[in-house]
Amino acid sequence: MDKSRPIGVFDSGIGGLSVLRQLIRFMPYENYLYLGDTARVPYGNKSDDIVRRYADESTEFMLEKNVKLIVVACNTVSAVALEAVQNKAGDIPVIGMIQPAAAAALRTTVNGRIGIIGTRATINSNAYPEGITTLQGGDKITVFSQACPLFVPIVEEGLMRHQVARVITEEYLDKLKKENIDTLVLGCTHYPLLSSLITELMPGLNLIDSGEHASVTALRLLAERNMLADEREEFLIKHNIDFYVTDVPSVFFEQAQRFLGFAIDSPQKVVLGDKI
Ligand code: DGL
Repeated sequence: MDKSRPIGVFDSGIGGLSVLRQLIRFMPYENYLYLGDTARVPYGNKSDDIVRRYADESTEFMLEKNVKLIVVACNTVSAVALEAVQNKAGDIPVIGMIQPAAAAALRTTVNGRIGIIGTRATINSNAYPEGITTLQGGDKITVFSQACPLFVPIVEEGLMRHQVARVITEEYLDKLKKENIDTLVLGCTHYPLLSSLITELMPGLNLIDSGEHASVTALRLLAERNMLADEREEFLIKHNIDFYVTDVPSVFFEQAQRFLGFAIDSPQKVVLGDKI
């Protein structure tokens, strides 16, 4: 097994870069390949069938690139299409966002009351409540879910510190506040960028970043299988990432830097699915 094969990370767009950031934090010596379906984002308001088809096409791309692990860096895809991705990937391991975050939330809560926020598709899928309650001890947990469809555009527009973000976040969190939750799963890869605002509005709440916990799972999996790349000092200075997107919107670089914390090289544009 060639340990230098890349870790493939895919998302509906740029949100998955918050996951890539965490992966690099835990595994800086890896080669990465990131695919963002920027031409078709957002997935969060689309039907399950469409999300499954798009996920299938991204998985195909990952397999063509000979990745050693696939990280589904999108909660929406993880919620509605993880099994389809796993079936297609065959022997290549696949890590989604839901299971690691569900387990982390269960470990973290003290009062047994967990909130979940995500896109409409993620919340409608019930993947998080099912993921939590089927874990050992999960039957004692009460889960409260809230779709937050306006969070993605707020983050993409860079409005996290704007008054509009505060008003909308207050509105979304109001119901969860009344339910006395002590732990909140940020069930969308855009939401970690709203962490400080959420903490300001609900101090003391434990926030679960799905990308962070998925990265720990990825590290453990690769270590157990002896598939971690060899350490290369130069990767600490310049990370080795190939970026692929299906479109390059004018604000792409600014947004990518916001999610990732550093500037990226020009992505390559690719066509997924039927190459018409
Ligand atoms: N990346 C998606 C997620 O984590 C949010 C963006 C979208 O709706 O496509 O659910």
